[in-house]
Amino acid sequence: MAALPKVDKIWMDGALVDWDAAQVHVLTHALHYGTAVFEGIRCYETGDGPAVFRLTEHMERFERSAAMLLMDLGYTVEQTVEAVKETIRANKLMSCYIRPIAFRGYGVMGLDPIPAPVNVSIAVWPWGTYLGEDALKHGVEVGVSSWRQRTVNAHPPAIKASANYLNSALARVEANRHGYNEAIMLNEDGKVCEGTGENIFVVKKGVLMTPPISDGVLEGITRDSVMTIARDQGIEVQERSLVRTDLYTADEMFMTGSAAEVVPVRAVDGRVIGDPGSVTVAVQKAFFDAVSGKNPAYSSWLEHV
Ligand SMILES: Cc1ncc(COP(=O)(O)O)c(C=O)c1O
Repeated sequence: MAALPKVDKIWMDGALVDWDAAQVHVLTHALHYGTAVFEGIRCYETGDGPAVFRLTEHMERFERSAAMLLMDLGYTVEQTVEAVKETIRANKLMSCYIRPIAFRGYGVMGLDPIPAPVNVSIAVWPWGTYLGEDALKHGVEVGVSSWRQRTVNAHPPAIKASANYLNSALARVEANRHGYNEAIMLNEDGKVCEGTGENIFVVKKGVLMTPPISDGVLEGITRDSVMTIARDQGIEVQERSLVRTDLYTADEMFMTGSAAEVVPVRAVDGRVIGDPGSVTVAVQKAFFDAVSGKNPAYSSWLEHV
């Protein structure tokens, strides 16, 4: 994976600071105990300048994640939305990835996070599609992980907490070592959940299916966008539980996420699905048209910088 491209400024606790000055103490609570929540968002170049895709919804999810951990961000959604735009403007970027994070900071140790201060920062940088350009065209090969998905009563997937991503990292390392591009996780009941940073969709007999939130997946904003786009195209969409063999017998399969975008899957555990099928191609094209402002039907999803 390429090194992180440096830009000028990072927003930290209300002010823009130089990239290299955006530092934290080694005794930051979140570094020890994973007590942080974050978002991943993309800004796209459109005919009317840079626009952030569904920014307010991402910042609402950010606030919900924090609230579930009893973390008071100290900023309203309107303020964090404006802070994201300010950071993009300060770095003069036309398109970028956006990483807001709120974390329990420096000052106390021990597992109770409540006495620790809450710090908020927003970083942006130019970042190509997460699984690679080739993956967007030709698809990725994935493997079902031996690691189980974080569970709703232990590490709730609905909270986009840094601590949850240890689970993702375990699965991603295993997948890479097995020669796959990405992992698919099953929950403790054996139901298909998601990738390490993406939701998952399969197509069977023309019907688009994705696991329900109640099976323990993150309520992805790209997932929601894709379901809307598909329904608008007259494709039947079902949120229903899937098991491992549903992946093996899928006619088409793809993954969605702000970082990964819409990525076809060409094989699961060595069972070949093949080149991206017609539903995948149609949904992927409509998604990229929407994010780049080429389809006025979805202009309300774009928040101009
Ligand atoms: C575990 C997981 N599932 C799904 C997604 C996709 O969510 P979204 O489309 O909101 O980026 C992400 C990315 O944030 C993720 O980390």
